[in-house]
Amino acid sequence: MTNQTAWILFFVGCIFGGAALWASADVNLPGNDEGYEPTQPIKFSHRLHAGEMEIDCQYCHSGAERSRHAGIPALGVCMNCHRSVRAPLGDVRAEDALAKAEERAPKLVQSPEIQKIYDGLGLGADLKRDKSKDAPGVAWTKVNDLPDFVFFDHSRHVNAGVDCQKCHGPVQTMERVRQFSDLSMGFCVNCHRDVNENGLHGDHSLNASIDCAGCHY
Ligand code: HEC
Ligand code: HEC
Ligand code: HEC
Ligand code: HEC
Ligand code: HEC
Repeated sequence: MTNQTAWILFFVGCIFGGAALWASADVNLPGNDEGYEPTQPIKFSHRLHAGEMEIDCQYCHSGAERSRHAGIPALGVCMNCHRSVRAPLGDVRAEDALAKAEERAPKLVQSPEIQKIYDGLGLGADLKRDKSKDAPGVAWTKVNDLPDFVFFDHSRHVNAGVDCQKCHGPVQTMERVRQFSDLSMGFCVNCHRDVNENGLHGDHSLNASIDCAGCHY
């Protein structure tokens, strides 16, 4: 959808649907589906990384505190660990034990999923850049997606003390990320009303917008 069509749709919506929508405020546009859980090109597990290993969300999503977008980490961030971690520890230990029993040197254990990080960066077997290969990156599929005519800013929320989980659910338990909230207008507005009336973590100075122009360009 172009910006212009979005605008036209938006105004038509305001005229015909504005009042009714304001009353019910739970209308949901197609494509913003609660529970949406696309398969990803790499089987990256938040349960393992953010849950079991307790890596901080913002180690990978460092934009959340400073900008509109939380951002998806570049593969270089994965390489901070996966330059040395080429397979799950259990698999490496199993091969070590087997090699010992068979009185031979252990073979390199390579996880095919971690291999995809190396392929995305165009690395050779020695994990150095191989110029004869492409570096196509990894095309992650977007999970949460607001329509273009809605303004959203991560930093405003994170700095006001809203936890990631309020909107994204218990991501640290998810093997694969799914959309947790319906991301409807009601979802946004109901919380804005709530924090304005009741405060958040004892902070009663909050003034989250419930004006149309606060969220719509
Ligand atoms: C706190 C944020 C927020 C505020 C304030 C807000 N909106 Fe929205 N609005 C949204 C979101 C998010 C969507 C997209 C919902 C979706 O994708 O399902 C939306 C969608 C819409 C749509 C299109 C929805 C449809 O399904 O037809 C219209 C029209 C609209 N808003 C009008 C208004 C009007 C008029 C006001 C002021 C009375 C207003 N909005 C205030 C967040 C907000
Ligand atoms: C080691 C890096 C890493 C850590 C730590 C991490 N994430 Fe992620 N996150 C990713 C990657 C890579 C993706 C894209 C692939 C996917 O969706 O699984 C992603 C995707 C997401 C998405 C979906 C984005 C979209 O397309 O809508 C959300 C939401 C999210 N992470 C939230 C969190 C939260 C909350 C935490 C902390 C509890 C966290 N992440 C910790 C790497 C990480
Ligand atoms: C107030 C609700 C809310 C909070 C709090 C929140 N998010 Fe989001 N997040 C969203 C929405 C809405 C989107 C979709 C934005 C869009 O489509 O423009 C999103 C998108 C994302 C994405 C996809 C990439 C991007 O930046 O659009 C990631 C990753 C993500 N969030 C991670 C996090 C992490 C990590 C935290 C906590 C540090 C967090 N979010 C806190 C609502 C929230
Ligand atoms: C802070 C260190 C760290 C970072 C950063 C990190 N990982 Fe991992 N990851 C690990 C460790 C350690 C394991 C192995 C855990 C085990 O022994 O089971 C692992 C396991 C995995 C696995 C499972 C492999 C298999 O065969 O089961 C995948 C896939 C993976 N990581 C992808 C990624 C991606 C993609 C990124 C970047 C978005 C990333 N990791 C960032 C430490 C990290
Ligand atoms: C869990 C509660 C919560 C949810 C859900 C939530 N917000 Fe907010 N929002 C806040 C708080 C708290 C602030 C910060 C208010 C302040 O700094 O005084 C805020 C601020 C904002 C601002 C900054 C401008 C302003 O002062 O109002 C925008 C824009 C915004 N939210 C849009 C959205 C949109 C769009 C959604 C839904 C996709 C959403 N919010 C969902 C709590 C929430």
